[in-house]
Amino acid sequence: MSRKVCVILASPARHGSTSTLAEAAANAIEDAEVHIHFLNGLSFRDCVGCHACKQGKPCPLKDDLTPVLDDVRDCDAMIVATPVYFGRGTGLYYMYEDRTFKLYTEQKEPPKRKALVVVSAGAPVKHAEPTAERIQRILTRRNFDVSVLLHSTRDDGLPKDNPELMERAREMGRKLFE
Ligand SMILES: Cc1cc2nc3c(=O)[nH]c(=O)nc-3n(C[C@H](O)[C@H](O)[C@H](O)COP(=O)(O)O)c2cc1C
Repeated sequence: MSRKVCVILASPARHGSTSTLAEAAANAIEDAEVHIHFLNGLSFRDCVGCHACKQGKPCPLKDDLTPVLDDVRDCDAMIVATPVYFGRGTGLYYMYEDRTFKLYTEQKEPPKRKALVVVSAGAPVKHAEPTAERIQRILTRRNFDVSVLLHSTRDDGLPKDNPELMERAREMGRKLFE
């Protein structure tokens, strides 16, 4: 049975730095079914904070993010990618993350899985660290063993012009199933 990789692209740029690196990592995995979720192409609402999920009731929101959350629950590995916006992930990323609240009830004991977090900054690479660390913490809580790929346009240029960085992304993708 082929392994399912769920890729969350939280940059509004479909072929920007984070998406390019995340897809390079995902496509390098052999025998994998890759599910790309480009959040900016979806229509979805923010969590309404009703706590229905905490009471074991279904989430009242049924929109384009609903199947994405099912995919996050059922995948064998994840890749989460966001640029740094004002020192944090994008609003798109946080809208997605808040909606994962229901998984804490729906999937009380998630299996041990691996995840790769890709964060791109315009400033020197240390500016990507706090964003990556925060996403890593959330994923660790969901039993993911997390590795991190940081990118800075200032330090590294664009990924498409940096073969070494692209190879690092591919290598990190392959390691998700080692
Ligand atoms: C609204 C906005 C806010 C940004 N804020 C930051 C920031 O706080 N720190 C930083 O290093 N780069 C910041 N950037 C630059 C992006 O993080 C950087 O260009 C990144 O490589 C974009 O990735 P993408 O091509 O995947 O969208 C910002 C860009 C935008 C559009």
